Amino acid sequence: MLLTVDHLTKTYPGAEGPVTVLRDISLALAQGETLALTGESGSGKSTLLHLIGGLDTPDGGAIVIEGQDIARLDDRDRAALRRSVVGVVFQQFNLIPSLRVIDNIAFQARLGGGYDANGAAALADRMGLTPHLAKYPEQLSGGQQQRVAIARTLVARPRLVLADEPTGNLDEATADEVMDLMLELVAESGAALMMVTHSGRLAARLGRRLHLRAGAVVEAGA
Ligand SMILES: Nc1ncnc2c1ncn2[C@@H]1O[C@H](COP(=O)(O)OP(=O)(O)OP(=O)(O)O)[C@@H](O)[C@H]1O
Ligand SMILES: [Mg+2]
Repeated sequence: MLLTVDHLTKTYPGAEGPVTVLRDISLALAQGETLALTGESGSGKSTLLHLIGGLDTPDGGAIVIEGQDIARLDDRDRAALRRSVVGVVFQQFNLIPSLRVIDNIAFQARLGGGYDANGAAALADRMGLTPHLAKYPEQLSGGQQQRVAIARTLVARPRLVLADEPTGNLDEATADEVMDLMLELVAESGAALMMVTHSGRLAARLGRRLHLRAGAVVEAGA
């Protein structure tokens, strides 16, 4: 199994004592599977994605990626796993303003040592970004920036793609276009995708659905 989440819990300190944000979440994701994570605002979707991405640590339970319990790794090994196996796409793009589009796309892959300039150019072309490679992020539209953010993640060839409302800032038509591309590229690379979305329409396009309510799984769709 690519990813196994077992009895995961997460609690944050609150003004009136600890607040349990995730309670007893278990799920499994195989290579090539696509899963939509839905649930109302505050239900814990981003928290779950951050924990799986190793950006935050759980209080209880386990996250096992390719057989490695990420809580048992030291910081260096966890960072290495994150770079080599997991790719994260954020809603707010998180592009680096001072870098040209091509260097934004290359940035993470270069850090991981797996940068392939030809692969990056081919990917950028597929995403319609070739005319924009020498521009800076602020010179692009939201949809173009989102495509850069997706290209940046996919160029490192992650086997697990975590995406937090990757099309949340886009109009419906652009969101569909970006979604088509992302699903196509994920399918081609054989990666698994776990995507947070508020859109039932987009969720329906993924292979499985998981619905969170107040930090617990209330509905798992096959
Ligand atoms: N660092 C933090 N410290 C304290 N509480 C937090 C922290 N991060 C998130 N929370 C709380 O955890 C709960 C879940 O937050 P989370 O961001 O996971 O929700 P979400 O499902 O992604 O919501 P949205 O759809 O609005 O993005 C919220 O009640 C939030 O206030
Ligand atoms: Mg969120």
